Amino acid sequence: MRYSDDIIEEVRMKNDIVDVISQYVKLTRKGSSYFGLCPFHNEKTPSFSVTPSKQMYYCFGCGAGGNVFTFVMEYENFSFGEALSHLAQRAGVQLPKMEYSKEAREKAERKATLLEINKQAAQYFYYQLRREGGRTAYAYLTDRGLSEETIKKFGLGYSDKYSDDLYKFLKAKGYSDELLRESGLFNVDERHGMYDKFWNRVIFPIMDVNNRVIGFGGRVMGDGKPKYLNSPETKIFDKSRNLYGLNVARTTRKNFLILCEGYMDVISMHQAGFTNAVASLGTALTSGHASLLKRYTQEVLLLYDSDEAGVKAALRGIPILREAGVNSRVVNLRPYKDPDEFIKNMGPEAFEERLGQAMDSFMFRVSVAESEFPMEEPQGQNRFFERCAQMLLELEDELERNLYIEAIVKQYRRYSISNEDLRKRVNTLAMKGTRAERRVQPKSGSPETKKRETAAEKSQKLMLTWLVTYPGIFETVEKYITPSDFVVPLYREVAGMLFEQRKEGEMNPAKLLNAFTDSEEQREVASLFNATIHLETKEEQDRAFADALLRIKEESLAERNRNWDPTDMAALQDLVKSKKDLEELGRKRQELHISFE
Ligand code: CTP
Ligand code: MN
Repeated sequence: MRYSDDIIEEVRMKNDIVDVISQYVKLTRKGSSYFGLCPFHNEKTPSFSVTPSKQMYYCFGCGAGGNVFTFVMEYENFSFGEALSHLAQRAGVQLPKMEYSKEAREKAERKATLLEINKQAAQYFYYQLRREGGRTAYAYLTDRGLSEETIKKFGLGYSDKYSDDLYKFLKAKGYSDELLRESGLFNVDERHGMYDKFWNRVIFPIMDVNNRVIGFGGRVMGDGKPKYLNSPETKIFDKSRNLYGLNVARTTRKNFLILCEGYMDVISMHQAGFTNAVASLGTALTSGHASLLKRYTQEVLLLYDSDEAGVKAALRGIPILREAGVNSRVVNLRPYKDPDEFIKNMGPEAFEERLGQAMDSFMFRVSVAESEFPMEEPQGQNRFFERCAQMLLELEDELERNLYIEAIVKQYRRYSISNEDLRKRVNTLAMKGTRAERRVQPKSGSPETKKRETAAEKSQKLMLTWLVTYPGIFETVEKYITPSDFVVPLYREVAGMLFEQRKEGEMNPAKLLNAFTDSEEQREVASLFNATIHLETKEEQDRAFADALLRIKEESLAERNRNWDPTDMAALQDLVKSKKDLEELGRKRQELHISFE
């Protein structure tokens, strides 16, 4: 599927970014921009800006940014196509249908129908719970402490004792067997044909972040097996990319999310006021879950069951979260088994207190290690500290490593170990190049290893920002710089587009963003137009401009130098000339005046 650039641009232009974002975020005007609390990270003072002249938003706190499409994609978790149709509808733009390929259209229709089937089924279950036949199920839920309000909020239901009534119900609505089979709501076998998968169970509809029902969990009322039965994965249900409760939790303004194991845990926490709880359902935490969490929070509290399996799950989850750039802490609920039981026995205040005592996830790993060695013997202690050293080696940042060395020494003072002892142990291990250290090898793309922005990159960004903010400077800039001087490939591409737009009339950064459909790229491009530097006087402006200009030229020359083919004589002459020009420009820098208005 591919829409024409014109229609994309039309939809963008008809959706003023301030209007759209105002529906989600309270904005206040400040000069030529609007500011508000960033919906993509937690903050107390507004660093989220929306600039009408650029038709772009940018958060100076977390770096989220883009045009109106990016915003809707990020906020609603929409694909580009979904954002486009949402905004088209909002502005009353009719999207041409025929540009879908036949396959794409069929696939989209299939998905839409599966969602519809799930919605119908959810309504059906919901209704069954409230009928005479659902009385035991309703009592089961209320006996477990759920209020009517909670049952409603989570859309809980009941699948009754007949094994074909959901089938009949949906059949009567005209769905084909083939689609019904694909919904995962039915079992098929030769003898019985198709029959309801859920039978005499209370039903938990599973919603995605956009409140669409994508699957179901069903619990037996009592001790039958299996305790829970879940929808299989389908075209609309990807277990490793959805979290139960996130549709509600994502809108709470707490600066952490709670991750637990199950349906009932999420529901009882929400009922007790902890509406930021989510669960990965019947599957271990995946990197898909972690990046989903990362969209909404920086920190996750792990509330796994207080048994061996729960500890294992936490140990597994911590590095997955860390890899995605999410901090974690581990909450101890002992002597209770899970959040549901804890709250039922101790109440919300005590629960809140436990959350406050959550353990740093690194120290949690250390404490688990301690329990694995015979610490009453010197041997055991020795092996424990060796394990600590291995874990410390995983920390690349020296400051962080030192902080944890101190924390471990403090915590395990009773074994009379000193900072120096432990540091020495870490260093020895590092020299040996143990397995642990090899594990430290930077993985590309992980947030810790993202390199810091260099001065040259910053200069290129500043120049792009100035160009779109003060189009008046273009004439001056053009005399010295061409898009090829931007050595970072993405920046060069963007500069090329800006120069092109300028040639054709007016620069339009938000339109330019349409060309990037990947939200990471959009975010980066948005940051290019929102570089900041504090400039007060005219002299400071001139100096910053000259600095940036010279640095861009220098870097461009250095880059050409690096890539110069020694057999290309013309290129050599060109290089020599450019070098002279640059020196000349450096001498003339006092004359480089510019006006930012
Ligand atoms: N689970 C599952 N299938 C099972 C058992 C568990 O899918 N046979 C999943 C469910 O999502 C469940 C979660 O794992 O919510 C946690 O399991 P467990 O701790 O056994 O259940 P609880 O959530 O404590 O359920 P309850 O309180 O209803 O007993
Ligand atoms: Mn439970």
